[in-house]
Amino acid sequence: MTPDQVLDQFRATGVQTCFHGRHIEPQIYAGLDGTNWRLADYEARGGYKALRKILDEGLTPEQVVAEVKSSGLRGRGGAGFPTGLKWSFMPRQFPGQKYLVCNSDEGEPGTCKDRDILHYNPHIVIEGMAIAAFAMGISVGYNYIHGEIFATYDRFEEALEEARAAGYLGDAIMGSGFNFQLHAAHGFGAYICGEETALLESLEGKKGQPRFKPPFPASFGLYGKPTTINNTETFAAVPWIIVNGGPAYLECGKPNNGGTKIFSVSGDVELPGNYEVPMGTPFSKLLELAGGVRKGRTLKAVIPGGSSAPVLPADVMMNCTMDYDSIAKAGSMLGSGAVIVMDDSRSMVESLKRLSYFYMHESCGQCTPCREGTGWLWRVVDRIHNGHGKATDMDLLNSVADNIQGRTICALGDAAAMPVRAMIKHFRHEFETLIQRSDVPSTPAPAFRSSTASRSA
Ligand SMILES: Cc1cc2nc3c(=O)[nH]c(=O)nc-3n(C[C@H](O)[C@H](O)[C@H](O)COP(=O)(O)O)c2cc1C
Ligand code: SF4
Repeated sequence: MTPDQVLDQFRATGVQTCFHGRHIEPQIYAGLDGTNWRLADYEARGGYKALRKILDEGLTPEQVVAEVKSSGLRGRGGAGFPTGLKWSFMPRQFPGQKYLVCNSDEGEPGTCKDRDILHYNPHIVIEGMAIAAFAMGISVGYNYIHGEIFATYDRFEEALEEARAAGYLGDAIMGSGFNFQLHAAHGFGAYICGEETALLESLEGKKGQPRFKPPFPASFGLYGKPTTINNTETFAAVPWIIVNGGPAYLECGKPNNGGTKIFSVSGDVELPGNYEVPMGTPFSKLLELAGGVRKGRTLKAVIPGGSSAPVLPADVMMNCTMDYDSIAKAGSMLGSGAVIVMDDSRSMVESLKRLSYFYMHESCGQCTPCREGTGWLWRVVDRIHNGHGKATDMDLLNSVADNIQGRTICALGDAAAMPVRAMIKHFRHEFETLIQRSDVPSTPAPAFRSSTASRSA
């Protein structure tokens, strides 16, 4: 599709991507129109000013790390770990090779913000990574890009070429003594490769399976060398911080929750899309930007941070602000910022069945609680949905979830267990109503079939 066609589609539908103008104080999506992604466009928007400032004014790596620490920037990949603190873990004086990795795998259902950053503003990620590399004394970096977005991958390669030709990447950047080689790497679409250590395995050409931690990537990362991994949006936030200062970034969000955040709003809203707003924006405002709940419907529930985040009922959500602390206090997670809106037409049992199937399918199979437990969860929810649930199934679901959570190598196990517990906690009656049904045929008919689905619970 040409840029004009993308724009036409957006004008016709009003729902496309990120260049719709319905953001609040955007920093990453600011000034984008769907076509102005090239280096000259980025420079016209003030791009590479932050890197130039660092090199021209002779800022030290320690000063850059301190600026990022003062901004309150927290990792946008899901866990919300403070970025400046993570950067300070990198052993800068380590004598061998060190690596910087950008996590653009973006596999979390509901999340589609990073691909828009890469597609419509790729240089902001390149500049953010170059600044991070300078701050941590790193000379080689990779951007691991989701396997199914070919056009975006190609565009990022083009942007890398532009940056190299202009002297923003490579040796002696802008005539300084700073060298940074940045490469793109294409994933193959496995959700688990978004987990940082599985990503490193995949980048090394191996099967993408998470590693035991510790050791953490800061000491044993890519090819066993010290490595820092951040999400695409995290890197994209950095140039603004350097140009405007950490305190200004913090001020535009909430204490401990600096800056803007991009929310991918999907589901039962009139205008699904990516919305960049200051941290701490009320959920009700975000919903309004996305056109509100579908006409004629009312809000039932929201998954506020991607499919791994526990669901919250409408009344709880309407009292939340969109930041890590408010959503955590309400019993869920801001996660990757994928806001899945569900109206009163949605069956929670059916929704959970779909989610459970996803985690069963994506489990890498290394640990028994996750490999076996995700299959159990799906099969039990499936039989409840089919009207063949047993009175003991609610306890069984909670027990299987208990036996997965906190007992696995990586957080995929937790991600599979948490939605189950939250759905039962808030919408137990829907499960019980189906379990008590008597008007069902005696032979269950599973909706999904897979190799693992044939095993019985
Ligand atoms: C199963 C699983 C999938 C993940 N997928 C992603 C992903 O697609 N993108 C991402 O940035 N982080 C993902 N993460 C989190 C990463 O492991 C890591 O915490 C993150 O990239 C760190 O970047 P940040 O500090 O900037 O948030 C995932 C974690 C798990 C457990
Ligand atoms: S928790 Fe699941 S996905 Fe993660 S390592 Fe274990 S089996 Fe693999």
